[in-house]
Amino acid sequence: MSSQFQAPKGVSEYFPPRSNAFEYVVRTLTSPALAAGYEPIELPIFEDTELFTRGVGESTDVVSKEMYTFEDRGGRSITLRPEGTAGVMRAVIEHNLDRGQLPVKLFYKGPFFRAERPQAGRYRQFYQFGIEAIGVNDPQLDAEVIAIAYQGYKRLGLTNFTLHITSLGDAESRAKHRTALVSFIEKLDLDEETRSRAAKNPLRLFDDKRSEIQSKMHSAPLLMDFLNEASKENFVAVKKALTAVGVPFEVNPRMVRGLDYYTGTTFEFVHSGLGAQSGIGGGGRYDGLMATLGGQNLSGIGFGLGIDRIILAMETEGISLTSMKYTDLYVVALGERAREESFVLVNQLRNQGFVVEQSYGERALKGAMKAADKSGARFAIVIGDAELSSGSIELKNMATGETVSVTLSGLAQTLAEKSRLL
Ligand code: HAM
Repeated sequence: MSSQFQAPKGVSEYFPPRSNAFEYVVRTLTSPALAAGYEPIELPIFEDTELFTRGVGESTDVVSKEMYTFEDRGGRSITLRPEGTAGVMRAVIEHNLDRGQLPVKLFYKGPFFRAERPQAGRYRQFYQFGIEAIGVNDPQLDAEVIAIAYQGYKRLGLTNFTLHITSLGDAESRAKHRTALVSFIEKLDLDEETRSRAAKNPLRLFDDKRSEIQSKMHSAPLLMDFLNEASKENFVAVKKALTAVGVPFEVNPRMVRGLDYYTGTTFEFVHSGLGAQSGIGGGGRYDGLMATLGGQNLSGIGFGLGIDRIILAMETEGISLTSMKYTDLYVVALGERAREESFVLVNQLRNQGFVVEQSYGERALKGAMKAADKSGARFAIVIGDAELSSGSIELKNMATGETVSVTLSGLAQTLAEKSRLL
């Protein structure tokens, strides 16, 4: 006898009532992106493995340890997408989206996959909402992208988070810093594996969680101190634009993002209520990614926000998630004729834009009213033979218990007025 099936280890799943929060979070994060002219893009969940090894970088944990890679039936190496930027760039190049008006502004949402050790806020299948703005390098665009994320969190009611930003500068600044950092690292006493990680990308050592590495890196040269004039000016302009639109930030020159494609402005939103997995979103500019993937040499900037962690963060801030299901009216029908007529009424109201639920089958009034209560509907009505013949019903406000008499034909009008009032 096989036991009951269970979801694979470490995946996040959403079902009612929490799934209402999921839907609400995605909708809320999307609205500031729509307001800034971003358009949706839907992409495959799996891609050619090389897209990620080349795009995200072999020195990263994401590529070296965490990819779900398999051979498909045609012998091709396929990987479940661990992040969204490489796929967006592949699609922009493949479909020539960069040959029209620039920047190309896109948003996406969906599942991503990383074979990490599961823990609170860290899953093997998780969800992101992301945007990418491609083809223009302007500090205002950097600030726009960051402000969209900030607005999204604010609209969700989050307050206990901080925006960390830094600049990785332009190619010249990074090259100078790299030389200094490599010679600093050469003098350190490191194991073979760490040394080979550093050889691929020396910045990775700033990101190493081991305390002995952290203390060795304490006096390492920081990129911030190697920015040339142009990079400095650019970073000043980004900070100025953020301040102008009321987005608070902290400059964190030791921040290292987990993906290799970043250049220039990079950022992370950190929530104070989440323990170790505190990053609720992050992103930055990527100057060379498009060219690396075989496209034009255009810059881009974007972010990915972790929907799972945002929901956890909302919970720690006491933001009520169960109330995120919205129903205008619950209709209870008693008796055969009433059930037939109310079914038509329910459909009419739904077509008029109201959210309406109803009882099914022959239910006793008490049980049906319990269901009405549980549904969270703002109003309820009971329709029986008496109501049908009088054409009048009692509209009950489920929060206050108050009732008002309304005609069946005037129900939609009354509901609309009450919705506007509330
Ligand atoms: P990332 O920092 O790797 O960036 O991921 C973005 C966000 O996804 C994180 O801040 C976190 O909230 C969430 N996240 C990442 N891994 C997990 C996990 N295992 N479980 C739960 N949540 C997770 C990127 O993915 C870039 N593509 C962002 C970007 C877009 N940069 C430029 N454009």
